[in-house]
Amino acid sequence: MTPILQIQHLHKRYGKIHAVNDLSLEVQAGQVFGILGPNGSGKTTTLGIVLDVVKKNSGAYHWFGNLPSAESRKKIGAILETPVFYPYLSAVDNLKIVALIKGVDESRIDTVLKTVDLHERRLDAFKTYSLGMKQRLAIASALLADPQVMILDEPTNGLDPQGIAEIRQLIIQIARQGKTIILASHLLDEVQKVCSHFAVLKKGKLIYSGSVDEALTGTDTVEVAADDMNRLEETVKQFAHIQSVRPEKQFLRVRLTDNQSSADLNRFLVERGIVVSHLSQRTNSLEQQFLQILAADQSPAASENHSLANQNITTHA
Ligand SMILES: Nc1ncnc2c1ncn2[C@@H]1O[C@H](COP(=O)(O)OP(=O)(O)OP(=O)(O)O)[C@@H](O)[C@H]1O
Ligand SMILES: [Mg+2]
Repeated sequence: MTPILQIQHLHKRYGKIHAVNDLSLEVQAGQVFGILGPNGSGKTTTLGIVLDVVKKNSGAYHWFGNLPSAESRKKIGAILETPVFYPYLSAVDNLKIVALIKGVDESRIDTVLKTVDLHERRLDAFKTYSLGMKQRLAIASALLADPQVMILDEPTNGLDPQGIAEIRQLIIQIARQGKTIILASHLLDEVQKVCSHFAVLKKGKLIYSGSVDEALTGTDTVEVAADDMNRLEETVKQFAHIQSVRPEKQFLRVRLTDNQSSADLNRFLVERGIVVSHLSQRTNSLEQQFLQILAADQSPAASENHSLANQNITTHA
């Protein structure tokens, strides 16, 4: 399938700062794709480049398999910075102006205001809106032309917990309508809650890309070994709360579901006459490493030592 967006070896320098450094990634149709990274890691610059508002130094990007064009740009709705609305005009009147600029029929205005849950307040002046409502109007504005792709840069910045929850719900809802969403965030939690796939940037470099499920399920794994590894594996697979069983060198790595712990698994094995020689629960170290990477911009000295190697996922360290 042709990717919605394909970025190949993209570079952007601002003087000495290498803001985007050999970045390659692909976004497929239907994904909610998170670009995750600490402040200054190049997220906004990357989005700016693929939206043709920032000039790249080298590399390439393709939208819908084609070189960027006015045609492809029409299929993309974007909010890079909080767009400027007229404070004394209502949501409807502000969107009428946007519709005029974009050449979109005004009949779409009602639809998008309903989507973002602003229909009730549609006649109130923009300046009376809360920050969350302003952000929702921005999303409505980006949805006006019914784009295939939505690009959102830090969509929940500055919002209170309820506003954050509303925007996240809205993003999920828009994705369910079949739109592909690309969003930049410095919040692991946000990516985890909203995205299906993600890439991690650090100082302009891609250090990871993959599916959220694979990397960040948050579930722990259990290492288990016994004298008879074959019998162990057979028996473990009969446990009702198994998500996956993967043989590693010295043990099986078992992913449990339903909040089951290593103790529950052990009890099950003992009942079937298996005495384990090794049993240990591992928290998702990958998640911890991401948290360290994301926190690293607060303590630059501690930022270099995060090897993502030896993980059973695609890494581009
Ligand atoms: N117009 C510019 N001129 C000079 N340097 C810039 C410019 N825009 C961005 N940079 C630098 O490029 C790097 C990447 O910035 P960018 O805004 O892309 O990061 P970001 O990941 O979006 O960060 P944040 O989470 O703070 O939004 C930073 O070091 C930034 O200072
Ligand atoms: Mg940014």
